[in-house]
Formats: sequence, C-alpha cells, structure tokens
Amino acid sequence: MGIESSCDDTSAAVSSNDKILANVVANQEVHRIWGGVVPELASRAHQQNIVPVVDAALSKAKIRKEQLHAIAYTRGPGLIGPLLVGGSFAKGLSAGLGIPLIEVNHMQAHILAHFIQNNKGVPSFPFICLTVSGGHTQIVLVRSHFEMEILGETTDDSAGEAFDKIAKMLGFSYPGGPHIDKSSKQGNPFRFQFPEPKVSGYNFSFSGIKTSVLYLLNQQTKSNPAFIAENRADLCASVQDKIVQILINKLVAAAREYKISHLALAGGVSANSRLREVFMGLGKEGFIPFVPEFQYCTDNAAMIAISGFLKYKRGEFSDTGLASLARYRIGPA
Ligand code: KG4
Ligand code: ZN
Repeated sequence: MGIESSCDDTSAAVSSNDKILANVVANQEVHRIWGGVVPELASRAHQQNIVPVVDAALSKAKIRKEQLHAIAYTRGPGLIGPLLVGGSFAKGLSAGLGIPLIEVNHMQAHILAHFIQNNKGVPSFPFICLTVSGGHTQIVLVRSHFEMEILGETTDDSAGEAFDKIAKMLGFSYPGGPHIDKSSKQGNPFRFQFPEPKVSGYNFSFSGIKTSVLYLLNQQTKSNPAFIAENRADLCASVQDKIVQILINKLVAAAREYKISHLALAGGVSANSRLREVFMGLGKEGFIPFVPEFQYCTDNAAMIAISGFLKYKRGEFSDTGLASLARYRIGPA
C-alpha cells in the first residue's frame, strides 16, 4: 500500500508488484475559498480523510489489510503537518500489521510513476525528466531508479505556482493551472508577449512572467475595466505558451548536452495539454518522449506504491523513528 499526504490531496493506493489495483484520491475543497493551500486546514482534512481513503483503496482492490506486504508513505518534501498525518498513519498500520515500512521521496515518486505497469513502455536509463509540480520545477538526470541528479531547478516560483498565481489574477479559483489550460483552448497564444527569463544553465525563473502579467493587467484595466473579461482566453493561451516554451527549451538543451534521447515528464503540470503536446512533438526531433497517465501526474499514492515496490525488491525498509521532512532533496542513492 502507498500513502500520500504531502500537500492537499489525501491518497491511498494498492499495488501488486508494478500493477496498480486501486488509486483513491480525496481532494480538499476547503482551500478553494482561500485561493491557496492553508497548511493547518490541510492537516485537519488529511486526518478526516485518511481512514476512509485507505478503506476505499482496500475495498476497490478487493483485498483485506491483512494481505498487505508493506506500507510505503511520503516522507517529504511537503507541508510538515500533512506529512506527519500520513507518516504517523503509515507507521501505525505497519506496526499493527507487523509488515515493513518504506519511506518515499515525493519528487522521486513523481518520476517513478513512469514505471507503473502500462502498455506504452517505460523510459530507459539514463533518461532526463522534467518534473513540474506545484512545489517544484526540476530537470533531473535519472541514471537508475534511485540514482537521480538535479541538473537545474527554479530559483523562485515553480511552474505550477506561476500557473496558479497568474490564474488568480485572471479571476480563476485555486488551483488555477487546469483553468488556464481549458481557457487557452479558445485563445490566441501570439496575442501577448512576455519576457524571456535570464537564468543560467538549466535553472528556471517564473517570477518575472508573473510580474509582467500583473503590470499588463494593472495598466490595461485602468482604461478598460473589462480588459480581463474580454481577453481572458488570449491571456491564458499567451501565458501558457510562454511557460511551456521556457520549460521545453531548457529540457531540450539539457538533453542535447548530455546526449540523452529518452525524455520524461512528471508532476501536476504535466497534466497540461499544451505542455504534453509540445513535449510529445519532440518525438519528431530525434527524442523519445514519455508522459505518465493523467491520474499519475497530479499527486497520487500510486506513485508512492510503485516506489515502495521498487524499494521492497531491494530490501530497503525504514525505521519507524524516521522523521518526516518538509525539505527532502533527491540525490544519488
Ligand atoms: O504535483 P502536484 O499535484 O502537487 C505538488 O506536488 O505540488 O501539482 C499541482 C500543480 C498545481 O500548481 C496545478 O495548478 C498544476 O499542478 N496543474 C496544472 C494542470 N493540472 C494541474 N497546471 C497547468 N495545466 C494543467 N492542466
Ligand atoms: Zn507532487
């Protein structure tokens, strides 16, 4: 069983080897009115959700908890309160059932979601993964399941945060990424231009684009208060294209330098339809692109279960004394 509780989704999954039998996710509606995740409210919602979510995963997988062989859980990175709820529950369950406990790094798990059994094949090592989520934006060189090196990452906001903050300015509710995605389909991506961030190597910066959208909106709404309503779709499409272009340019540059052809996409923002389209288009430029199924892009426990399975095979079990970690960088094994 995998248990995920790093942010605002409570999730439990049951796997049999690399096959997912059930993956149940409870989203927390409570944050919508605040326009972002409130950590204390998230912890309380996890506490309410965790037992029903675990029960639902077991019944969907049609197994009893006594049949489980190990419990994997997200140790970090994430919000410490939510991590403690999932971690404590996982420790209790493993102790109660007398089965091994396996700690999992959430960012590593987003990448390992590619190894969930499917019919489309898996990337071969070494490959480069662009991990884009609400909390992180990283270009990762993946040498093996547990040997990963961060080649570059954001120096300020993550790509998901940029989507969410700009969406908020445009009047959408949290999380805004999916709204921008949907609205962009009716918009003209060439209508507005945003500056190219100047960041060295494979690092990113998304705070500049956020500020330039804010300036544009402030300036235009002075003369036309309906500017946002009249131009929402074009604003969305232009912002989305710029963010996608920034991400893909750096990914391709890294792949060329490291001479790596297998590329992967992971994390919540990899659910973005334009990013998926441009990424899959890299197939025509000599690369072999892999994207996870939609349900394994945003936070889910299936990715924790598959990571747990891979660690289980290596006999890597964890002590119940391990502390949850708000900051937890991926690195070589
Ligand atoms: O990986 P994830 O579920 O949670 C974290 O680990 O942070 O990522 C959540 C992020 C949010 O910023 C959300 O707006 C973004 O993923 N997201 C999207 C889309 N679906 C989710 N961003 C753009 N387009 C989407 N379709
Ligand atoms: Zn995540």
